[in-house]
Amino acid sequence: MSHSTETDVLIVGGGVIGVAIAYELAKASVQTLVIEKDNLGSQSTRAGAGMLGAQVEMMAAGPMYELGVTSRALFPTLREELLEICGCDMELQTPGIFRVAVNEVDRQELLTRQVWQRSAGQRAEWYEDDELRRILGDDVISATYGALYLPDDHQVRNMAFLLGLVASAKALGAQFREQTSMSGFLTENGAIVGVHTLNGPIRANRVVLATGAWTGLLGRELNLDIPIHPVKGQSLLLNSYAPPTPYTIFTHGCYILPKRNGQVYVGATEEESGFDSRPNLGALAQLSNQAVGLMPSLASLPFVEPIAGLRPGSRDGLPVLGGVPGAPGLYIASGHFRNGVLLSAITGKVMREVLTGQQTSVDLTPFSVARSVNT
Ligand code: GLY
Repeated sequence: MSHSTETDVLIVGGGVIGVAIAYELAKASVQTLVIEKDNLGSQSTRAGAGMLGAQVEMMAAGPMYELGVTSRALFPTLREELLEICGCDMELQTPGIFRVAVNEVDRQELLTRQVWQRSAGQRAEWYEDDELRRILGDDVISATYGALYLPDDHQVRNMAFLLGLVASAKALGAQFREQTSMSGFLTENGAIVGVHTLNGPIRANRVVLATGAWTGLLGRELNLDIPIHPVKGQSLLLNSYAPPTPYTIFTHGCYILPKRNGQVYVGATEEESGFDSRPNLGALAQLSNQAVGLMPSLASLPFVEPIAGLRPGSRDGLPVLGGVPGAPGLYIASGHFRNGVLLSAITGKVMREVLTGQQTSVDLTPFSVARSVNT
């Protein structure tokens, strides 16, 4: 059946970024519709482990680090809001993350990181191998070169978080349409005034592309070179009655992230293999060897499933946030790479500020569309 629709803001993409923007807009009483080509959260949101790794994921000080720390600080309030509006619990777990050194180079990098993160006002504590194994148990972790403990890096249950945002945004008036694929832009006099879908056109005053790894591809239709491309991540999901540790253990190229329900995520590869999102044995075998090398008890845990998804990588590693110069009516919120869940809170907030004409609470210059999009 063909039907047309009109809305003030149309968000293309129902992953955690699109949904977080919809939630913020709904709070501000802005008429919002989200369309998703598949099911809500079914791409990289589902494939992630829900880590809020503002400190563990960032190798250097700079705008990405600042954005991550700012976003992480929004989660406790967001958790309360979602509980109050729809009763949904994002399962914010706060024991912190150990970034473990597995060789001398790693150790030196982490000791340097401790210095700049502390001078940036964050907590970061160094544990030598014997102290670390006393905390975790030496039957849990094999010998290390020490570890940086980041007590303020947390995790949520990614799909619970997403569904909480959706339910709350719906309760505040936002609309969502799944299985609705965008097939092109509606343009008038050089402005974007909506999109075509297989179910008919949707007109909108503003269109936001929150389309993750697919954003570069969609931009091509308007001759925009948006530097966002897919980077595959593969993980393993394991089961346990009680996880070996409540802490997330993170090392170069591998993390072990326990959930409250006993499940354990072992993630994640980084592969440039286009839009192929299928898991494969070679990459998973390598990941599993690395994880078991660090935490031998994982070897006996039953296997639930392999997980794979496409992260939206950007050319300079920073997300792309804001209006597209030369394309009035078009906005982008994408390129969050490994940190979509972490950065969703601040992205929702700043995109709401942009779309309602307010001064943004974060300087968006480093993330501006203009810095990277060739028109
Ligand atoms: N944030 C973890 C990952 O992308 O694998």
